[in-house]
Amino acid sequence: MILAVESSCDESALATFDPARGIVRETVSSQAAAHEKHGGVVPDLASRMHLSALPVLLREFKDQLPDVSRIAVTRGPGLLPCLSLGLAFARALSLSTGRPLTGVNHLRAHVHSPFMVLHASAPAAFAAARAALLPHLALVASGGNSLLVELGDDLSMRVVARTVDDAAGEAFDKGAKLLGLPYPGGALIERLAAEGDPARHRFPRGIPGKADLRMSFSGLKTALRYQLEKLSDEELRRELPHICAGYQLAIVEQLAAKTAAALGTGRHRSVGLSGGVANNAAVRRAMEQTARARGVPLLAAEPRHCGDNAAMIAFAAWADVGLPEAEAVTPEAQLAVGSV
Ligand code: KG4
Repeated sequence: MILAVESSCDESALATFDPARGIVRETVSSQAAAHEKHGGVVPDLASRMHLSALPVLLREFKDQLPDVSRIAVTRGPGLLPCLSLGLAFARALSLSTGRPLTGVNHLRAHVHSPFMVLHASAPAAFAAARAALLPHLALVASGGNSLLVELGDDLSMRVVARTVDDAAGEAFDKGAKLLGLPYPGGALIERLAAEGDPARHRFPRGIPGKADLRMSFSGLKTALRYQLEKLSDEELRRELPHICAGYQLAIVEQLAAKTAAALGTGRHRSVGLSGGVANNAAVRRAMEQTARARGVPLLAAEPRHCGDNAAMIAFAAWADVGLPEAEAVTPEAQLAVGSV
């Protein structure tokens, strides 16, 4: 059984995974409420909150420690003070239990996370079932990253495309901030968009053309800022659901269009969806349509495994290949945002 620690941003999480049974136990402690008043994650506050949360969460796993054969920990990318804290905590666990420590790349774990559903349905048949779905194209859309990654027959990963500026989740969050909504804004924009007409306000779709797979979301928030300058407070109140609907549609259509274009090579046997933005029902629907149109199955991470969580770290420590022993988290590792 693998015990995993996740603390790369503002969620402290622990989980255990048994290859024969699946996720055995998982827990997440979110700091979102503490960061909300700052309008974003404050790294030093986040790391101090990890320091107090992780030992408390560990109490829930004490009875399982004798069955743990390996400790896994997120080694990056993420916020340096948060990663360092998690790594020190996991290293202490490794030393006190005598179990080896494996460092897991957070983005690789997101890429593998949709396969957790496949594993849960039939653990013993997992290897063959996964092999039939490779090569796989994974869309990872979170607050810090947006990228398309190819998972090859040999489980190697290749970044096919990424955003040149903001991530999709960042576009949701920055848009929400401009609209006076609290952080993180993605889920709230989705809720408001459900009441709006997406055709009333149009926002840019990033870099045009099927040949260019790069994503871009920063023009979206600039366009929103210009539109807001033209509205009175009263008009904004009235138009808010329509603006949210149009803004969300621009993000959804760009994600789906770039995924469809990447699938155009015809080499992929499945497509995946993961990361915090995968919680969004409109994103899930658009990706389902994209997959259906290309004749490949969509594997979407379960909602509780879309945002940061330790279950996907434990799963990736087993499902990924060739993961290194945990190394020191250097500033270089932290800066390697988007590397897999
Ligand atoms: O994967 P995640 O927890 O990690 C970070 O990168 O921190 O993703 C968080 C992101 C935030 O930007 C949040 O606004 C976005 O996911 N998000 C959503 C939804 N739920 C979370 N975006 C759109 N719709 C949602 N329902």
